[in-house]
Parts: sequence; structure tokens; C-alpha cells
Amino acid sequence: RSASSFHQPCVGTARSNEENADINWDDLGFGHVPTDYMYVMRCSRDDKFSSGVLNRYGNIELSPSAGVLNYGQGLFEGLKAYQKQDGSGFLLFRPEENARRMQRGAERMCMPSLSVVQFIHAVKETVLANKRWVPPQGKGSLYIRPLLIGIGPVLGLAPAPDYMFLIYAAPVGTYFKEGLAPINLVIDDKIHRATPGGTGDVKTISNYAPALKAQTEAKTKGFTDVIYLDSINKKYLEEASSCNLFIVKGDVISTPATMGTILPGVTRKSIIEIAIDYGFRVEERLVSLEDLLDADEVFCTGTAVVVAPVSSITYQDQRYEYKTGTETVTQKLYNILTAIQMGLVEDRKNWTV
Ligand code: COI
Repeated sequence: RSASSFHQPCVGTARSNEENADINWDDLGFGHVPTDYMYVMRCSRDDKFSSGVLNRYGNIELSPSAGVLNYGQGLFEGLKAYQKQDGSGFLLFRPEENARRMQRGAERMCMPSLSVVQFIHAVKETVLANKRWVPPQGKGSLYIRPLLIGIGPVLGLAPAPDYMFLIYAAPVGTYFKEGLAPINLVIDDKIHRATPGGTGDVKTISNYAPALKAQTEAKTKGFTDVIYLDSINKKYLEEASSCNLFIVKGDVISTPATMGTILPGVTRKSIIEIAIDYGFRVEERLVSLEDLLDADEVFCTGTAVVVAPVSSITYQDQRYEYKTGTETVTQKLYNILTAIQMGLVEDRKNWTV
């Protein structure tokens, strides 16, 4: 069944409020703005997720011994809905990629997962129930945050007996405080984001809090974010705290290969495909510190971040600068990607839903 032919009724009580959201659309950052409804599904470990409900957005009650609270058994996703230019509806970008990534993560974290159809249906329901919070085109997007968490009680280390899938949403603008301006990164060679055999390639909740220490220190020193190196050789690029990394040298674009420690980003994958279509050579490989420091341009990609140009990278107190501005490869890729996401050009790849 295709997502559009999925007719399972939503048994919640969503009444989409038609009034405009009371918010200044010109002042959106990436902070949490509570919206009207959240989508909730539950199931036990040996069962399958079946029906979902739209509940008013609000706190959820958890047992203190919930798997997610005690052992971090949880995943999250991130995707965005854009308002169409003529106001006739909303566009999601490749939601099936988020659905599949959550399925892979659930397998790694011993959790039951939803079908792709169920996931997309739940995302659509959430967007429609909160449609007054989708920013007008050009002002931002509705960020959609699916969670899959172990809610059943555990004491010894074991998969939780019960699970919750939940989606909430918030209107967002740019991720970094710099807005669309280039960002300044610092390389941390002591703290690592992921290790081989770990969970760096799935979107577990527990991958993110360990980055807070390096990120907080970097921000205190005036940097935007941190670049992490591989934990074995300490000389190959991995990611920034919340996004993938790319370097540009001539007409070759390179990004760390997804060999277990890199999150396979939906934006990462899309930028690779767009760059190939536009005649660039794209290499997914080990990208060394020397490659990075010798690059012409560096940029970050992610759902929240979109495509963020990097103007400088500091490594062992030495600052390296990169080309930024309207004439860059980075800007070209940003323009193409966002035009597809916002429905401003023909979507020849059928990426938008
Ligand atoms: C996203 O880009 O959607 C993410 O999930 C990263 C998060 C740290 C904001």
C-alpha cells in the first residue's frame, strides 16, 4: 500500500485550529515552540504498532524504570514540512528515508518499529493537525521530531517490554545563531562522537548528549560547533555535533564514507545525488585532516542545518579559512536543494511528498 492509500483512521481528537499561530515568523530560530498536537502509538515488545492517536501536545507520563530513562533505549528522527508557495498545502522531503533509518536503528537497539507507510501516515497527520504552525514560505519550516522509546519498566539491562512512538513538531528557522552566514568550527581531538562497532550510524538518543561537553567548550571560546575525528587514528574526519561534513577541492566533493561511525544523513545523501547530477565528482571515502585543511570549501549538511557554509576551522590553535559567498559550490548546492524542498523547481526525482 502506498502512503496515500493508507486509510487507518486516527482515533484522537484533533481539531485543527484555523486561527493563525500567534508567533513572529520573522524571528524563528531553532528553539522549541510548543504546537497543538502530538501523534502517539504504543506497542509491546512482541507485538506490532497498530493504531495511533493525535493527542493535545503535552507532557507524557513515564515509569522511573522506563528503558529509555535508565539505559537510553531510544531513537529520534528529524524532518521538515515546507509550506507550498501558493499556500495550497505542504511538502515533506523524502520521509521514507527517515522511516527506513528509524527501522535500521530499531533493529540495532532491539526495538519494534513501524512500517514505512505507518511512519509517513503519522508524519502527515501530525503536520495537518498543526498546520497553522507551518511558517509561510521563505520564513522557515515545521520541524517534525519522531521519537521511538522504550517506556516499559526494566531494572536489569534488557530491552523494555513496551514502546512508544511519538511525533511532535515545532516551527523553526535557521539552526545556527549565525543564520545563513558562514560558521566557524573547531576540531576536538580528545572527545570522539562514535567508535567502530558502536551506534554512530543510527540515530540513537544516546549519540548526542556525549557531544555536549565538547560543544559547550567550543561555544565558550566563540566557535559555532565542533568537528570530531575518528577514535582509532585520530586523523580522519567524522562529523560535527549535529551534522555531516563535506569538503570541496576543485570540482571534487568529498565526504566521510558511512562505514559504521557516520550518520547516514538524508541531506547528505541528497547532496551527493544532486552534486553528481550537476557534474561534480563525489567521493565517499576516508577524509584526512590534511585533506580538510587543504580544501577550497567546507560545508555541513543536516535536516536542521540544511547546507551550512564553513568559513574557518581551528585545529590546535591554528585557524584555516575557506571560500564562502554567492559564487561557491556550497551556495549552488544549497540553492538547488532548497528549491526542491520548497517546491520552487520541478521535482524530477520525486523526492517531495
Ligand atoms: C537534524 O538535523 O534533524 C537532527 O536531528 C540533528 C539534531 C541535533 C538537531
